[in-house]
Amino acid sequence: MHTPVLTIDGPSGAGKGTVSRLVAKKLGWHYLDSGSIYRSLAIALQKAYIDLTNINDIVKIAHDMELEFECGDELIVKLNGENITNQLNLESTGSIASQIATLADVRQVLLQKQQDFKRLPGLVADGRDMGTVVFPEAENKVFLTASSLKRAERRYKQLIGKEIDANLVQIKKDIEARDRRDMEREIAPLAMSNTALYIDSSDMTIDEVVEEVLNLIQ
Ligand code: DC
Repeated sequence: MHTPVLTIDGPSGAGKGTVSRLVAKKLGWHYLDSGSIYRSLAIALQKAYIDLTNINDIVKIAHDMELEFECGDELIVKLNGENITNQLNLESTGSIASQIATLADVRQVLLQKQQDFKRLPGLVADGRDMGTVVFPEAENKVFLTASSLKRAERRYKQLIGKEIDANLVQIKKDIEARDRRDMEREIAPLAMSNTALYIDSSDMTIDEVVEEVLNLIQ
């Protein structure tokens, strides 16, 4: 039986997670948040005090880590049985994730873990290389982006909403540094598949983006 796949790639903060979750819910499909796999590995490395220059140990931890995902209103992630959901979205976790994501051997180990999410009745996969490397065969591909200022403002509001101290200028700088690292790396860089639908969400609401993506599927 054929399993349909919709890939949604783009830079951090473009709204991929929210849009992907809503589209997956509407379609009744599974959801893969591939960034959370890289983030989980970042947490596993911190817990094991692994130096980020020690590639052999990083690959070993990537290989051995056991991840469980519970996809409700909020994504709950367990690493080797421990709930790590609260640590996933820390800025420090994202930064380490982005650094280890440049390692070819790490990407190779994580490839199968991501492809295992492809199950009937279908999959919505969000990340950087979903349409180009992990699911190149996907029939529907989206590249979702927004200006770095808009993305920084959204992140700032989220943090302030959670009563976490935040600095808009610093957040914008961090976002731009992460963009550069994700786009300039040699292996599976953030890039738009030439068959993807390009959506700039800078001046769109979440509902408008969801509608445009659902139109693509239909
Ligand atoms: O989407 P995110 O911010 O949770 O991803 C965290 C980091 O993981 C991102 O900076 C780069 C890496 N990543 C990747 O290289 N490939 C993916 N498909 C998803 C994330």
